[in-house]
Amino acid sequence: MSPATHGTAAVAASAAIHTASIRALTLSAARMSSSWHQPGLTTRIQGDIAGQPLQDIFGNYAAYVTGILLIVVSILIIWAFQRGQPIELGPVKIGRLRGRTSRQPPRKETGADQHMLPAANPEDVTRIYDVSNAAQFYGAIAVNYDQGNSVNLLATHMEVIAVVSRTRETKPSAQILDLGGGTGHAVATHFFNDSCIRWTYVDFSPAMVGQLQQHLAGRPLYENLQVYVEDINQVYRRLHGKHYDIVLLNLVCSSMPEPPNFARLAQLISPDGLLIVSDINPQYTYAHPYFKGTTAEGAKVALSTRAVEPLDVLARARDAGLQLAEMKKIGDAELSYSYIAVFANRVHPGGNHQGQVGHLLPT
Ligand SMILES: C[S@@+](CC[C@H](N)C(=O)[O-])C[C@H]1O[C@@H](n2cnc3c(N)ncnc32)[C@H](O)[C@@H]1O
Repeated sequence: MSPATHGTAAVAASAAIHTASIRALTLSAARMSSSWHQPGLTTRIQGDIAGQPLQDIFGNYAAYVTGILLIVVSILIIWAFQRGQPIELGPVKIGRLRGRTSRQPPRKETGADQHMLPAANPEDVTRIYDVSNAAQFYGAIAVNYDQGNSVNLLATHMEVIAVVSRTRETKPSAQILDLGGGTGHAVATHFFNDSCIRWTYVDFSPAMVGQLQQHLAGRPLYENLQVYVEDINQVYRRLHGKHYDIVLLNLVCSSMPEPPNFARLAQLISPDGLLIVSDINPQYTYAHPYFKGTTAEGAKVALSTRAVEPLDVLARARDAGLQLAEMKKIGDAELSYSYIAVFANRVHPGGNHQGQVGHLLPT
């Protein structure tokens, strides 16, 4: 018998089997009753267990056993079908659907919200990390991280570099706070030859820090580089308030279980300083949630990233007293890859960051 698949095919198969089962049951019952009344008649039931006729094993009870078996199989098939599980009939196999548990509602496969559907687990990876284990994920892939820099990622970095470069033009000794700086290959190394700019780098993955140091050791920027191997959510205690001309969160929030505390970040920004947040377009993240990487040993692994809504970023920044200066999407495709948002700290020196209009300078 050919395998039945999900949906309509499964309904048809289940119904056919059910009908066949009922027919077989009726037949068995008829045979049973005839053998009951005519003990001498050699009624052979054709059901087979391990190659032996049922009659040889169960004797006069073979008809009962066949009936019970058919009822059990019918119940199993109906049960599996109702739970939306795939049924195969040759050999019989009732399995679990890939990519969701049986308790979850079936996927809607049509309609405008299709891009919101959770993507199936990637098949080519040996391990999927949750964002709560991002430190381990980045530690595992650090040596190969920069190999995954796609055209889209490079375009995102270039937007960030452009803003840093503009700031540097008017303020050569700008203080940059690079939160979740990674290998530094994307942004920090662009300024490797700059002996004026000050770079404070934070990342909780020592392996990432190792990569950064390999990239910059001996370069002018290295002289003005301060490194904190620390969590973004903790490091603010060790940093100067109102000090940084640019605070960078470049493609970092989607690797965090929750966004960082924007109010605390705002307190680190100098008056008229900037907060730059870039991240993956959330629609893109819904469609492609797995950020894949290769470990030092060559194994493929993935991080299940978190969608970061630009409107949420906007609201958090505004609540922290920051003003939106620029926001744009990056990538020409119908589904853009990422976005960048630049917020200005238009706070009078001495003002606080309560998000009150009275603390904002006119734009
Ligand atoms: C996708 S990478 C981006 C690296 C870099 N900003 C870039 O654009 O190339 C995210 C980085 O953020 C770091 N990271 C994520 N969550 C962090 C946290 N809570 N504290 C410190 N670093 C974090 C990771 O270790 C990783 O190096």
